[in-house]
This record gives sequence, C-alpha cells and structure tokens, in this order.
Amino acid sequence: MFLETQGLKDLQTLVSMSKQRGFVYQSSEIYGGLNSCWDYGPLGAQLKMNIKRAWWETMTRRRDVVGLDAAILMHPTVWKASGHVDNFSDPMVDCRSCKARHRADHLESNVCPNCGSKDLTEPRSFNLMFKTHMGPVEDEGSVVYMRPETAQGIFVNFENVQSSMRRKLPFGIAQIGKSFRNEITPGNFIFRTREFEQMEMQYFVTPGEDDKFYDQWKEWRMQFYRNIGINEKNLRFKPHGLDELAHYAKAAEDIQYLFPMGWSELEGIHNRTNFDLSQHAKFSGKKIEYFDEAKKEKYVPYVIETAVGCDRLVLAALCDAYTEEQVGEGDTRTVLKFHPRLAPVKAAVLPLSKKEPLIEVADKIFATLSESVETQYDESGSIGKRYRRQDEIGTPFCVTVDFDTLEDKQVTVRSRDSMAQERISIDQLSRYVNDKILAKL
Ligand code: GAP
Repeated sequence: MFLETQGLKDLQTLVSMSKQRGFVYQSSEIYGGLNSCWDYGPLGAQLKMNIKRAWWETMTRRRDVVGLDAAILMHPTVWKASGHVDNFSDPMVDCRSCKARHRADHLESNVCPNCGSKDLTEPRSFNLMFKTHMGPVEDEGSVVYMRPETAQGIFVNFENVQSSMRRKLPFGIAQIGKSFRNEITPGNFIFRTREFEQMEMQYFVTPGEDDKFYDQWKEWRMQFYRNIGINEKNLRFKPHGLDELAHYAKAAEDIQYLFPMGWSELEGIHNRTNFDLSQHAKFSGKKIEYFDEAKKEKYVPYVIETAVGCDRLVLAALCDAYTEEQVGEGDTRTVLKFHPRLAPVKAAVLPLSKKEPLIEVADKIFATLSESVETQYDESGSIGKRYRRQDEIGTPFCVTVDFDTLEDKQVTVRSRDSMAQERISIDQLSRYVNDKILAKL
C-alpha cells in the first residue's frame, strides 16, 4: 500500500517537530533559552514516563532485582571514594581565534572544528561535577556535589538493601533519577545535556561469576530494546578498548544506537569489579562485606552495571519511530511508529458528527477507555485530518463513533501502521486496546 517510506533525515527535523507537537521545548525559551537545557511538553513527559515504566518494570519484576530511590545530594566523601573528585574530568581546549571551547579528546587534529584555526590553548583538565553549598554559609566546608551518576547511591546502600530485603547473591538494585554533569560540549538536542536522567542497575555477584553475568546482562539489555520496539538494525554492541575504560572498569561495552549524527552510545554495560564497595569501605572505615553461607566465607561482591540515559532513550525512540510515508499519489503522511507500550497517547475517540446522540456515546467510550489508557478526544475537522493528527503523535488506535454505532453498539478501530479498519464491539474495546499494548513484539 505504501509507495515509499523514509526515516528521519536530520536532527533538526526532530527538534522542530518535537516543539510543534508538544514533545520537547527549549528551556526558558521566552528568555532566549538556556544552553543544552530542555523541557518535556505534555506528550514528551508521557513518553518519558512510559519509557521509565517499561525499564522499571523490566528490572524490578525480576525475582533478583529490587528498586531504590536515593537522594541527589550525598556526603561529599562519597565522591572522593568513588574517584570522581580526582578523576572525573575531561581535557578542555579553547580556540584563541573564535573563542569556541572543545573537548581535546574529541578533536581529530589540533584544529578548531568551528573556524579552522590552529591557535588553540594547551589542554586543561576540567572536573565535570556541579558544586553547590549546603546551608547558609558558602565556604569550603559546606561544599556538596550534584551527583554525576546515580550508581553511588546504590553502592552506599548495598548493606541496607541486602539486610532489609534478606538478599542473597546474585541480586541487583535498580534506580531511576537525575544526574548532573557540567559537560564541556553538550549538544545534539537531548543527547548530551548537563542535567539528565539515568536508569541504572547494579548487579552484585560472587567474584569469579562476574564474566558470566556480564555476558548475560548484555543479552538481557539488548532484549529490552527489542521488547520496546526499537529496530534491531539501529542497535549494536561496541566494546571499549583497554585505553577507553573508565577508572573503575575491568570490562565495558556500549549499546549504540544509529542516531542521525551517527552511531553513538545509548547504554553502558560495565564490570566494575569490587572497586566501589572497597573504596567506600576504605573511606568510611566500615567493613562492607557479604557473608556467603554456602561457602562459609566473607568477601566483597563484584558488580555488573547497566546504565542508560532516559533522555537519550527518548531521543532514540523518537528517531526510531519517525517515518514519512507516501500513501497515495502526491499524498504523504508523517507517522510516529512507537510500540503501543511507549506511545504517549494510546487511543483517540473520534465522533463522526457533533450531534447529540453520537457525542453522548463518544463521551462514555472516552470515560471508559481513559480509566486504563491515555486517551484523547477529538471532534474537530474531517475524519481524515483527525487520523493524520493522531498519526503525527503516534497514537496506535483511532476509535471512530458513527451513526451505525447507535444501532449495532460497535465502533471502527483504525490501526496507525496498517491504516486497516475493523469493527469492534464497545464492550470489547478496552480489552482489545490493552491486549495490544501488552503484546510482545
Ligand atoms: N554509572 C555509570 C555511568 O554513569 P556513563 O556511561 O557515564 O556511565 C551512562 O553514563 C549513560 O548515561 C550513558 O550511556 C548515557 O546514556 C547517559 N548519559 C551520560 N552522560 C549524559 C549526558 N551528559 N546527557 C545525557 N545522557 C547522558
């Protein structure tokens, strides 16, 4: 039926579309915006919520993973112990000619990518943590950091969770929350920002079993992306070379997504060994060990970490869903083909006329559907235009109420992707929509 299909050509198209349709706006726009900060509009907020819910449920409905929600501000010694105060920095250079600032490790040669000048400063190390002060006095003693990763909240709570939840190895702790990094070169829309949300899971294992679980988690994480409908062709693994490993990692691999600007990191999977727990034991002076009843010995568990940026996954989901289709001679439609589980609006109720008996039925259908799924109600414009408006925001099901509905108690359900229509009894409608949302691909 479709003559030609095209995906997203460039990020700018997505930035404009996101603003127009209520997904993402520039932060503080009426004041000229704030560099690299973005606000999620009504549909973006719902999409992000659906992504977080899919991740949270995938993690915490396993028997071996529990959730946590730790504070953003932590004792400053946490960041000494983790190595962030000493090591979490990027080399920065300034162009003396155009004053642009770059990450030295991102330059292909010693040339400013902005103006072509070779007159660059020597690289200087720049710590990426945001500092602030706790309490009314702004002195060195009151410095606290905005966490640059959520992981440390999990490590410092290892013993609390293990004992309160009576956990035996292997087990994991999952967390979703904001992180902050004073990135030298943020950019590419919501790909790299200074304030972002992470979805991280630390899986504690017996040393010696770490390689096995590292491989296993790589597989589970790739399966997650398949389950939420991300096109497999746009995903790949990219192992880190030994010279690229973070200060805490024995092995690391990224799951990359093919964004419009090229293959880039979506998620990191790391074998963090016992580095973090050992460091926190050293800096806090408290033993952090696990007593293995089967082996009758104590040891410090190893950690396999999976870490994905929620905003980056929103960007990947938007890029992946974006499709332009020629549906007839000279007729094109833009459609966001989200998996129904991610779609911000699941169903739209469209009465064919504004006449009283139809509106009454449509209102009732809206009330019933919106008890279980996000539903829109639209009675303005031709039915064709209303379908297109729903295609543009990725609504998987349009429910048309017509005059036959009054007689046969059925509605027409039109599917977003195939545009096929079927008659469904009003009684079965909620069940029909909910079954499709839960369906695995
Ligand atoms: N605890 C490990 C950790 O934080 P990371 O590779 O630095 O590892 C994990 O970050 C994920 O967080 C990345 O794969 C990316 O999706 C996301 N992320 C990191 N920095 C980001 C930024 N400045 N803006 C948006 N997302 C970011």
